[in-house]
Amino acid sequence: NFEENTIITVFGASGDLSKKKTFPALFGLFREGYLHPSVKIVGFARSDLSTQDLRERVKPNLKKGKHGNHEETNQNNEAKNKIEQDFNKKVDDFLNLIEYCSGPYDKDEGYEKLAKIYADFEKTRNGGKECNRLHYLALPPSVFGTVGERIKKNIYIKNEHAQTRVIVEKPFGHDLESSRALQKELAPLFDEDEIYRIDHYLGKEMVKNLSVLRFGNSLLNAGWNNQHISNIQLTFKEPFGTEGRGGYFDQIGIIRDVMQNHLLQVLTLLTMERPVSFDPESIRDEKVKVLKAFAPINKKDIITGQYGKSEDGSKPSYLEDETVPKDSKCVTFAALAFNIRNERWDGVPMIMKAGKALNEGKVEIRIQYKKVASGVFNDIPNNELVIRIQPDEAIYLKCNMKTPGLSTSTQMTDLDLTYARRYQDFWIPEAYESLIRDALMGDHSNFVRDDELDYSWKLFTPLLKYLESDEAPTPEIYPYGSRGPQAMDQYLMDHKYEFNSSEKYQWPVTRPE
Ligand code: BG6
Repeated sequence: NFEENTIITVFGASGDLSKKKTFPALFGLFREGYLHPSVKIVGFARSDLSTQDLRERVKPNLKKGKHGNHEETNQNNEAKNKIEQDFNKKVDDFLNLIEYCSGPYDKDEGYEKLAKIYADFEKTRNGGKECNRLHYLALPPSVFGTVGERIKKNIYIKNEHAQTRVIVEKPFGHDLESSRALQKELAPLFDEDEIYRIDHYLGKEMVKNLSVLRFGNSLLNAGWNNQHISNIQLTFKEPFGTEGRGGYFDQIGIIRDVMQNHLLQVLTLLTMERPVSFDPESIRDEKVKVLKAFAPINKKDIITGQYGKSEDGSKPSYLEDETVPKDSKCVTFAALAFNIRNERWDGVPMIMKAGKALNEGKVEIRIQYKKVASGVFNDIPNNELVIRIQPDEAIYLKCNMKTPGLSTSTQMTDLDLTYARRYQDFWIPEAYESLIRDALMGDHSNFVRDDELDYSWKLFTPLLKYLESDEAPTPEIYPYGSRGPQAMDQYLMDHKYEFNSSEKYQWPVTRPE
């Protein structure tokens, strides 16, 4: 049982990813009772820290969970104090599970120390039985190979009692070639079923819900095709720029940062055929199958942008970031369109757009249906199904209804499933919590398989090469805090999107509770 007899080692324990994501996620699982108190957590890094130092670094990022939308608000002081005390106790208990071990990544000595820590733990706490090992590589991919080799040599385990699992995180390469090179380093060391490639979007509640929404509802499933759907938009908006990460981002750009991975993952789940079952390989087989049907991206049919100063001058342009080359053409906004060449989707533009430093932060899927037959209605708006991934999970279907009362006119309204209103007492895990739990449970469904990764790079590499060549178009400058490049509205219309919602319509509706 991987849940109980397990040692979790976080490599890169002193870094940013583990501080902000890995340890808080492990704590979230512990807090909610999904991390067995018998597990041991070891932080490994080069820095010369003590266990106490690491615990102190980890502590400030440990938070209470979100349970519905009315937590604590109606509690009296006594109840609030109790919650606080319970929380503090959980923090202390969690921190006590953590031990630190330091060593270089490329020499055996640190791994030998780890082996000793594992052996001591197995002897004293696990009755001499070997433990499972979950290794979380919160490290840059350039050292995956080195660390993987040392793990294999010094602390790998695979027998009938105990196994090894390795979690790795993007970027999985820079293009098809480098992704394959990385894959070549890892493949001889670990079996594909020992590797868990995290794309944290696959851990988001609404993304996990996509298959149920589609295949568990005949109503939606029936119209999920080019007979009824006119176009699909996937939108990723962030209200902040590269603040402090410019140097890193300049090598990457928005396409590699969120489109080739996060948004493409969402798009495959949205467009794949129904898997024969919900077991991980069946799901991933279908994802690969649909990826193979994607037509090459039309390089001439894209919009690229880079953010400039905000209109009021208070926010800096991308180029003002000191870590960025002054003549950088780095793309901080991009829009592109896919066509999937199969019976279900051919002819439905799938528009993906993503940008930094925009007017709001949100990630959503917008499915616009075809117009109803003409004749009876005068220019009635198209239905739209909107799946709000974040913030505030929601699904709403924009539809036309008779205006209530004596009027016979029509009005746009919605069928609205706003999670916070509908599900009052649910704990919605953070993406990393959900994925680490999956890895502990040995469930690969929400992790990226090697062939999937290969197809995603095949699709994006020609476009990325073009954008880095001399022929690349100059990105349109858009003001920090705006809706993005001005060319966008026309681009959407060119891809069949109709801006036809009634001016009166607005979501979310503020209703009396
Ligand atoms: C990361 C990107 O993978 O995803 C970041 O590197 C981006 O640039 C982030 O901000 C978005 O994730 P989330 O969960 O905040 O939407």
